[in-house]
Amino acid sequence: MRTPFMAGNWKMYKTPAETTAFFNEFLPMVADAKDREIVINAPYVNIAAAVTSASGSNVGIGAQNLFWEKEGAYTGEISGPMLKASGCQYVVIGHSERRQYFGETDATVLKRAVAALEAGLIPIVCVGELLEEREAGRTNEVLQTQFDGGLAGLDDEQFAKIVIAYEPVWAIGTGKTATPEMAGETHQAIRALVAAKFGADAATAVRILYGGSVKPNNVKDLMAMEDIDGGLVGGASLEPASFAAIVNF
Ligand code: PGA
Repeated sequence: MRTPFMAGNWKMYKTPAETTAFFNEFLPMVADAKDREIVINAPYVNIAAAVTSASGSNVGIGAQNLFWEKEGAYTGEISGPMLKASGCQYVVIGHSERRQYFGETDATVLKRAVAALEAGLIPIVCVGELLEEREAGRTNEVLQTQFDGGLAGLDDEQFAKIVIAYEPVWAIGTGKTATPEMAGETHQAIRALVAAKFGADAATAVRILYGGSVKPNNVKDLMAMEDIDGGLVGGASLEPASFAAIVNF
């Protein structure tokens, strides 16, 4: 059985004070949700506040990116060891917004994933197709390319630690969710890619999250699909009550 995994992705929202206020409200709402993994991926400057607020709770903290070098003259960058030392346990890698606006490629996704694992962080690696790719019937081909370039270079032991997030780009922040059937089908296709490369046991064990307009009112239907193991939630993770409703689906 795969443990359900509910992750918030705050993107570029909230200040440290707003972070603390969020956790004060949110933690009591999810205190009884012990059978699932709960994570908030916060902007770098809010990590200290998030880690302090969530300390001793059932909520883990992650970042939204990292650089693959451990340290050095890389102005503006943050490394895996820095995140780990700041109390992070997770890091989102290869989000479509990073691919779209910041030049992220499958090759850099792999480098970041390896760096995260070396630092003892759990990478949440994002994949997903654009609308024109889905409409052209190229979804599986795109996922295969992202998988081959971004994940297939891990060894078995490294792969066993990662979480995959499938986020159809056309469903992110648009209010358009993939139907549970459509998402479930794509998750199954991703699991088949994992099986072909890492074997059947790895495919059964890996958690694949769905992301893209997950809301309190659609989470239950998505989570009912056999191959959907959790959510990566943007907009609806910013309000304590709405993310708690998703966590407690
Ligand atoms: P959304 O974002 O829930 O606001 O669609 C999801 C994501 O980008 O991870």
